[in-house]
Amino acid sequence: MEKKCLSSSCGKVAAGTVLFLVLAFFILSAFAAPVAGADPNLARNLAATCSTCHGNSGISNNAGIESLAGVKREVLVRKFKEFRNGFRPATVMHQISKGYDDRQIELIAAWFAARQ
Ligand code: HEC
Repeated sequence: MEKKCLSSSCGKVAAGTVLFLVLAFFILSAFAAPVAGADPNLARNLAATCSTCHGNSGISNNAGIESLAGVKREVLVRKFKEFRNGFRPATVMHQISKGYDDRQIELIAAWFAARQ
């Protein structure tokens, strides 16, 4: 037997439900933001770990250590991964490069590529 609707709100979503969903959305997105890597300084902070040797903002003052500023992103990523894989001869970079994952390398490379 078919149910008869006796109220004017039949078939409509109750206002309370809508409010609940909207609030749930905002509360969940507040928690989701840090997980999505929203730190705007992450790339800069990661790149700063290279500055001891490659100079502030990637402009090297150390003889024999290349500047990283302005190097193309793809070139930096490739060289860095070659160090990590042991394909590129190194004194220290083969060790240093093992401390960074692919996503971090991409961030660092993009940051240096944008320097002058
Ligand atoms: C302890 C000093 C030191 C630190 C810290 C360091 N590097 Fe290096 N880097 C070197 C040296 C020395 C070389 C030359 C290769 C070798 O001997 O390991 C080099 C070479 C490189 C090269 C190759 C440059 C070229 O064109 O030949 C890249 C790319 C590089 N480093 C990226 C980085 C990045 C990115 C970081 C930070 C995550 C970093 N390095 C941190 C010392 C350092």
